[in-house]
Amino acid sequence: MENLHDKRKVYERSQLIESEIKQNPIEQFRDWFLDASENPVISEANAMAVSTLEDDGCPRTRMVLLKAYTYEGFIFYTNYDSRKGKAIEKTHKACLHFFWPNLERQIIIKANLERIAENLSDGYFHSRPKGSQLGAVVSPQSCEIPDREFLEQKLKDLEEKYENTEVPRPENWGGYIAKPYEIEFWQGRPNRLHDRIIYKLENGIDWKISRLAP
Ligand SMILES: Cc1cc2nc3c(=O)[nH]c(=O)nc-3n(C[C@H](O)[C@H](O)[C@H](O)COP(=O)(O)O)c2cc1C
Repeated sequence: MENLHDKRKVYERSQLIESEIKQNPIEQFRDWFLDASENPVISEANAMAVSTLEDDGCPRTRMVLLKAYTYEGFIFYTNYDSRKGKAIEKTHKACLHFFWPNLERQIIIKANLERIAENLSDGYFHSRPKGSQLGAVVSPQSCEIPDREFLEQKLKDLEEKYENTEVPRPENWGGYIAKPYEIEFWQGRPNRLHDRIIYKLENGIDWKISRLAP
């Protein structure tokens, strides 16, 4: 067994104080997201963990790529019949999580989820490279499959089928928009006295801002 007791880092890069934050959390998100995406050390700033609640009461988390964000919410694409898709169709909720270690920052977002309009999913699907489009058609995401050959063979068949035609977007593949109702920004600080600022949506329109103990 390995003991990690002495593995610790001093957080001292930045601070998050009320006089400097944005009143709207999406604008605060944009500031931090731009810092992360412009940082040459961070390779996929838009990679986020998405947790959904499963029938056994245990949340399940996996990474997905954030593909857009607006004042309304955060958009990602997936298979609606996947394990996460099934959980979302049931609860219409998820928790999104970003961690950018080099910036000593994390963001935790609780949100209500909806499918985006089909024409928007079509638009994004067809903007992807053909290989990715075929990958989405080939993969019965989250289902058990016999072996890797199953995927390779299906891909080969579909490459021939759609050699000269557009790949139609599978009906069970598309985007979700996660409409936030709570967003917490965490900035690491010295002596474990980290900054935590939380925005909570009140009456469906106003964001109430408060500070949490670290
Ligand atoms: C960095 C990264 C980005 C990913 N992006 C996506 C994505 O945008 N959409 C997606 O469906 N799966 C994505 N995946 C795969 C998921 O983590 C996951 O394996 C898959 O969606 C099936 O999850 P589920 O069975 O829990 O539904 C990504 C994985 C990683 C590591």
